[in-house]
Amino acid sequence: MKRFLDLDDLTDDRLQAVLRRAAALERAPITDDLRGKTIGLLFMNPSLRTLASMQAGAQQLGGSTFVITPGQGSWTLETRDSVVMDGDAVEHVREAIPVLAQYADALGVRCFAKGKDLDEDLADGLIRQMADLCPKPFINLESALAHPCQALADWKTLEDLDVPRHGGRFVLSWAYHPKALALAVPTAALTMAARRGMDVTVLHPEGYDLPDPVLGKARALAASSGGSVTVSHDRRQALDGAHVVYCKSWGAPQHYGRPDDEAVLRRELRDWCVQESWFGPARPDARFMHCLPVRRNVKVADEVLDGPRSVVVQQAGNRLHAQKALMIELLTEGGA
Ligand code: CP
Repeated sequence: MKRFLDLDDLTDDRLQAVLRRAAALERAPITDDLRGKTIGLLFMNPSLRTLASMQAGAQQLGGSTFVITPGQGSWTLETRDSVVMDGDAVEHVREAIPVLAQYADALGVRCFAKGKDLDEDLADGLIRQMADLCPKPFINLESALAHPCQALADWKTLEDLDVPRHGGRFVLSWAYHPKALALAVPTAALTMAARRGMDVTVLHPEGYDLPDPVLGKARALAASSGGSVTVSHDRRQALDGAHVVYCKSWGAPQHYGRPDDEAVLRRELRDWCVQESWFGPARPDARFMHCLPVRRNVKVADEVLDGPRSVVVQQAGNRLHAQKALMIELLTEGGA
């Protein structure tokens, strides 16, 4: 069964084919590749881009969608196994997923990290459980540790901008956010850039080291692709010669699941709001990337988001083209 849980699910050949198709769909958006097909979308968490781009994308390919948002017009869902369901949840995913799969030709599911147990979230088990329950093609629309649709769109954005694969300098920078955020997007951006063969620097304040399994995977990908992964706490050093700064916040792993403890560390870090002055040592044409949504003047200053470096809207636009190509890959004979 075809499923897209992480970028790893596409071989290098298929990844390049999907990116080529995404570029073609950007030039000629309307096709009938999904005529008569329905994509079921289950959103356990909120979305703007993913929800709208999946719906618009399916429609532009001649298909249709239905959207389930548990607790908002449909039953609240339980995800834990072997639990006595005497709380708020009315229905279990063990029934809900195979039921929805009968109404659709593929399912896309968003289920974020629970944010309580680091090992549990690093295992990314819930999205795999959902995929295992689905007898149809399955798309991860962001899970505890992965956001492969974002990674695919970001890869296309780098191609569109002619950012070099080998020798391209990609900085993944931590930024301040009032809450401890999940690891899915930083992991997706880091592993995408490493697999693309770029020289990646992970820039963050003390205490915000990405977990070893995340860094280890990125380093293994870089070793295969001819790229590199380093870690820095020094902003000037990290941005020296950078082609791209990709900003994202994440929670301190040492305080995972304990937001009150983490807040003590975090409250001293409000100056980690990306400013134009950060780009002094970067290439003059360095780009700023962020997956969105973003809190202006908390995480990133207006001057950056509204300035010529920012490609955040282009990134979001590429979600549409990339996911359309992905749906064709997963749902049609012509895809593979
Ligand atoms: N970047 C992203 O996935 O956006 P949404 O959360 O709005 O879908």
